[in-house]
Amino acid sequence: MPEIKSNFSLKNFNTFSIDVKCKFFTSFTCSIDLNQILSKHSNDSLLILGGGSNLLFTKDFEGIVLKNEVLGKEIIEEDDSIILIKVGAGENWHEFVMWCIDNNYGGLENLSLIPGNVGASPMQNIGAYGVEIQDVFAHLTAYNIETGELEVFDNKACEFGYRESVFKRKLKGKYIIMHVVYRLSKNHVIKTKYGAINAELQKMKVKDPSIRDISNAVINIRRSKLPDPNEIGNAGSFFKNPVVRKDIVDSIKNKYPDIPVYELDNQAFKIPAGWLIETAGWKGKTFDNYGVHKNQALVLVNYSDAKGNNIYDLSSKIIADIQSKFEIVLEREVNVI
Ligand code: FAD
Ligand code: EPU
Repeated sequence: MPEIKSNFSLKNFNTFSIDVKCKFFTSFTCSIDLNQILSKHSNDSLLILGGGSNLLFTKDFEGIVLKNEVLGKEIIEEDDSIILIKVGAGENWHEFVMWCIDNNYGGLENLSLIPGNVGASPMQNIGAYGVEIQDVFAHLTAYNIETGELEVFDNKACEFGYRESVFKRKLKGKYIIMHVVYRLSKNHVIKTKYGAINAELQKMKVKDPSIRDISNAVINIRRSKLPDPNEIGNAGSFFKNPVVRKDIVDSIKNKYPDIPVYELDNQAFKIPAGWLIETAGWKGKTFDNYGVHKNQALVLVNYSDAKGNNIYDLSSKIIADIQSKFEIVLEREVNVI
């Protein structure tokens, strides 16, 4: 039975570095650990924790935090062109991506340097630089908290969307992701359609990029834009980029003809929330020890010892302001606890 700690500080377990405590804290490496822990804590509320890089704690957690430490990588199928790799949910995401590149398995290179663990990658269908995990996801196994059984979810069953999955919606709080299987390629499809990648490759003087070049380009871009959580507390984009109708885009364009807009289809347009927040005047605003990042308006930051509620209240003010200025309601991407 894994050790269970009481009244445990979570400050080093969330990238916002919010200083809250949980009533109980433990870790697990397999479903047998989970059976034992949950039989003793069946009445406590649960929080499954990976790297804590997509969480905002606004108060102490009056339940048990279960840190996922399911490790291991295993090749489960392979031919000349594809390889299926089963990865433990507690493996670090970026280290896994680097391992794939070292072994010349392609598909995840655009997702380099995203913080957190493998187990959370399907939770919000992580995405960056023109790729989402649903593009290379085969299936996952998850522990059903009610029955203690392991169940398999394929791509369809995960109901992936933009920063969405079934585990954030109708199955929220019901499953613990234990392993994820990725279908990677040996014949690489290089994806440079996200503009900044081509510009960065040119800067790097790379003409015929390998998957490692793509990874390096993505790492360079990310380092130039996003604050490193080891230096400034943050959880990446705090809000999703809103998807809106054409009439909303047209009415904003009357006042701001240069607004950046990405057409998804005739009816749906994605607007960068970072642009809306910057245009509304919030970029770089600092309140005591927290604020809106100076290089990326979509990232809220904790400079030292801010409370989660300070950051949550700031996010509410931004939502209200963007609604009044643009008639768009921003949705938080970060999981608020
Ligand atoms: P956590 O924060 O620990 O957990 C997130 C949620 O998933 C919680 O609700 C938790 O309970 C649940 N959960 C975690 N593991 C499991 C599990 N095994 N089973 C069931 N539930 C689980 N995200 C992107 O998509 N694209 C980006 O480009 C990106 N860039 C980022 C940059 C920075 C600097 C930071 C700080 C964050 C960024 N993120 C990005 C957000 C974050 O890295 C991802 O969402 C990541 O997948 C979270 O992983 P984690 O292990 O830290 O999850
Ligand atoms: N922009 C501004 N001002 C800003 C920030 C952005 O005007 O302060 C505008 C610019 O026009 C820029 C555009 O927004 O060209 C897009 O910005 P960026 O390329 O930085 O991407 P993003 O839309 O802000 C999204 C994801 C990131 C992901 C990047 C790269 C969401 C919510 N965020 O950010 O994911 O890394 O694209 O693909 O979709 C995360 O989810 O935590 C995350 C960091």
